[in-house]
Amino acid sequence: MTVQITPVDPVGRPFFAGTVRGIDLRRPVTPAEVAAIHAGMDRFAVLVFHDQPIDDAQQLAFSRALGPLEQATGDIAAPEDRRVSMDLNDISNLDKDNKVLARDDRRRLFGLGNQLWHSDSSFKEVPAKYSLLSARHIPPAGGNTEFADMRAAWDALDEETKAEVRDLVCRHSQVFSRGILGFTDFTEAERAKWAPVRQRLVRRHPTTGRLSLYLSSHAGEIEGWPVPEARAFLRDLTEHATQRAFVYAHAWKPHDLVMWDNRTTMHRARRYDHTEVRDMRRTTLTNEVSSLEQAP
Ligand code: OGA
Ligand code: MN
Repeated sequence: MTVQITPVDPVGRPFFAGTVRGIDLRRPVTPAEVAAIHAGMDRFAVLVFHDQPIDDAQQLAFSRALGPLEQATGDIAAPEDRRVSMDLNDISNLDKDNKVLARDDRRRLFGLGNQLWHSDSSFKEVPAKYSLLSARHIPPAGGNTEFADMRAAWDALDEETKAEVRDLVCRHSQVFSRGILGFTDFTEAERAKWAPVRQRLVRRHPTTGRLSLYLSSHAGEIEGWPVPEARAFLRDLTEHATQRAFVYAHAWKPHDLVMWDNRTTMHRARRYDHTEVRDMRRTTLTNEVSSLEQAP
């Protein structure tokens, strides 16, 4: 089989979001397939694989073939409550017995932070490179995932704004993103574990050389700026970056796997009926270095 990658929407969005055909993720991938996928990610930033009925072990094997993984240290569930190993993020609304979480369950409320535009693990000093999200069970309606092209967002800024933001450094924390939703129920240990980290607001992609805005709802401060002014500006930039022309909305089918580059995209979950089961598993490649080392 040869890997083929074509734009999801060749007319409207030829350079953002590709569909991958000719690969079976249940089997070991070849070096040529790995190379084709990295090249596809550099071009499209989001790749969609349909009909891939994989289990956790197959998802881990495929992900590790692409690069080193990060650990799920951003999850809020206590170790004894985890449904999956620390190599996977549990993106579900289920407890250990596969029961849907109560509406006011702390884990569910924390997870609603995924409905804000973000880049995975931007709250870690070494953030995420690729995320791979596998749909094991999807609700009958709603629950799309939207992706915004942060290269296009950078390119479309006026020169004055580009010069203003180019060397800014933000502080990111899960305490900031959850605070937007009024979730403040953190323990002292969680506040210490998720203390703010520094990330550049503009970063350069190491292979394509393209610049992108590195925004995320985890960003709550800009170094050297008063906090309200920073938040108002970050909101404006996010509004610019997530205009519909830059967005691909993925409507899930069972056994889809979607992979995105967190260096060049933001994403968000959309709401769905909280009594329905939604079970997704995420593996995450580490960026290995901070964005501070990927200056324009
Ligand atoms: C994620 C995430 C969005 C969704 O897995 O990192 O933000 O739609 N998921 O579940
Ligand atoms: Mn995410």
